Amino acid sequence: MSIWDQLPKPFLILAPMEGVTDIIFRQVIAQSGRPDLFFTEFTNVSSYASEKGRANALERLEIAPTDSPIIAQIWGKEPAHFSETCQALASLGFSGVDLNFGCPDKHVNKAGGGAAMIRTPELAVECFKNAKKSTHLPVSVKTRLGWSKPEEFKTWLPTLLNEHSAALTVHLRTKKEMSKVPAHFELIPEIIQLRNEISPETKLIINGDIKNRQHALELHEKYPEIDGFMIGRGVFENPYCFTNHEPTSEELLKLLKMHLNLYEEYVNSCSRNIRDNGSERRSSPRNDGRELGGDENNYSHIPSYEPLKHFFKIYINNFPGAKELRAKLMETHSVSEAREILKNL
Ligand SMILES: Cc1cc2nc3c(=O)[nH]c(=O)nc-3n(C[C@H](O)[C@H](O)[C@H](O)COP(=O)(O)O)c2cc1C
Repeated sequence: MSIWDQLPKPFLILAPMEGVTDIIFRQVIAQSGRPDLFFTEFTNVSSYASEKGRANALERLEIAPTDSPIIAQIWGKEPAHFSETCQALASLGFSGVDLNFGCPDKHVNKAGGGAAMIRTPELAVECFKNAKKSTHLPVSVKTRLGWSKPEEFKTWLPTLLNEHSAALTVHLRTKKEMSKVPAHFELIPEIIQLRNEISPETKLIINGDIKNRQHALELHEKYPEIDGFMIGRGVFENPYCFTNHEPTSEELLKLLKMHLNLYEEYVNSCSRNIRDNGSERRSSPRNDGRELGGDENNYSHIPSYEPLKHFFKIYINNFPGAKELRAKLMETHSVSEAREILKNL
């Protein structure tokens, strides 16, 4: 049975977020208040298909045991590369594959991927068909209403629904709107109607400005035909947003310590792999690399400490002295320096 048929109704998903929902942060959320389903950050199919990019693509697709069930999100514009990547994904422990047809990033769009697919619907359909025939995993799509005008959903969503994807996530904004205007909740009834008429078996997931479980449940009461809700930035406001829990400052501090520990463990495992292989090469923890093109391609880098600091504001917030503490932590250069500051609290 497909993962999409095993989820509760409504189900909640942690939105894929580049630079945020990596293997480390997903473990923090899995242990605080987990969603029903995780997505990876997006991975470029042409990277996977190239000798040079494959190791990096595989690193982005690393998953931890607590991630399951998890969907691999991919993007690109070459139909053949979608096939090649989807063939590999089945052996990596994923429950499904999601095609990103909504990313507004200018580099991604210039490369013809993400939201650029909205302007090349025939290519989008070809990529979808290739993905579908290359894997037994269910294939879903995440997209926006349109490129520049919200009304574009009236032709764009039917194009996708005609392919009967397992699930369709609609971020209720256009590419041009980025995240600058409120999500178009008023269009939900029409979107439900399109799904019901064209592909009733496709799970419909709504995304954009949904803050937490309570908010999702309220929307579900209003629109019971929505199958699931995807929450992105809500997790910054409350890492427990998939539950009804309002954490205390102590609980948030504990999560920060957990995040630091998980980061350190991950760095240590990367270092061990590099050392054991005698060079900066290693195999994926979930796979010996052979069916993915060989160990030769599994090059690893040690994730740097700097990006980790972006997470501090999630945990150090809303208590007297939080701002000053955060400022101190932002000046650290290592986990041990951060721990030293936290120890004195
Ligand atoms: C930092 C960041 C990175 C993102 N990366 C991705 C991505 O890799 N794939 C994707 O489909 N959407 C990505 N998104 C979009 C989110 O998945 C989501 O659609 C968007 O944030 C709207 O939902 P929200 O209002 O709940 O945050 C990203 C958003 C943010 C803020």
